[in-house]
Amino acid sequence: MKEPKAFWNKSAPRYAKSPVRDEAAYHKKLAISQEYFRADWSILEFGCGTGSTAIIHAPCVKHIVATDISDKMLEIAEQRARNAGIENISFQQGTLDNLAFKAESFDAVLGLNVLHLLEDVEAAISRVHRLLKPEGIFISSTVLIKEVSFFWRLLIPLMQAFGFAPYVNRLGKQELLSKLINAGFSVELEWQPATESIFIVAKKHQ
Ligand SMILES: C[S@@+](CC[C@H](N)C(=O)[O-])C[C@H]1O[C@@H](n2cnc3c(N)ncnc32)[C@H](O)[C@@H]1O
Repeated sequence: MKEPKAFWNKSAPRYAKSPVRDEAAYHKKLAISQEYFRADWSILEFGCGTGSTAIIHAPCVKHIVATDISDKMLEIAEQRARNAGIENISFQQGTLDNLAFKAESFDAVLGLNVLHLLEDVEAAISRVHRLLKPEGIFISSTVLIKEVSFFWRLLIPLMQAFGFAPYVNRLGKQELLSKLINAGFSVELEWQPATESIFIVAKKHQ
């Protein structure tokens, strides 16, 4: 299996061209997120990909730090932000493990379509918790690999062996919710657009 950075760097041009799979679900997630945002908020997004979501949210908040493990994804994201005339997003290459932000720096953290790609989800949630201000919110959406069809569960290891799929964990819904609660979040909203995916808004306790 390729290193995640190499895999996503190679995938970036194709990912940039791929359409959103479920437009209605995507727009619902954007709308729910924006109900929480305030004009003076600072937001961190990890695994921002080609920046589409950050660019949509940018006019609603003060600043977004959009980060990703892949510099190729970020190159496309930066170009897109420039083309859109968006000036309140700063881009940084890295992961939650190696980016140095002060504790309690952000009002919200976004991790969209990325939790299923992490080897240690518990550690990531705990870092998100540390970076959030008291009562800050963590908005995440993820594939629940435990719930994907038998066909995909057979196919994924094959695709990984040939370098066509990245590492994915085996996260299930209850496990993810428990990890959030154990880290000190309360789950404000959970929505499953499909059996094998979930969107969660979680709030850090005061
Ligand atoms: C499926 S894409 C999702 C991109 C974007 N969030 C979206 O919803 O379109 C996953 C992204 O996570 C990034 N990624 C993978 N592992 C990562 C990690 N450990 N830390 C940060 N980003 C990571 C990849 O480079 C890729 O851009």
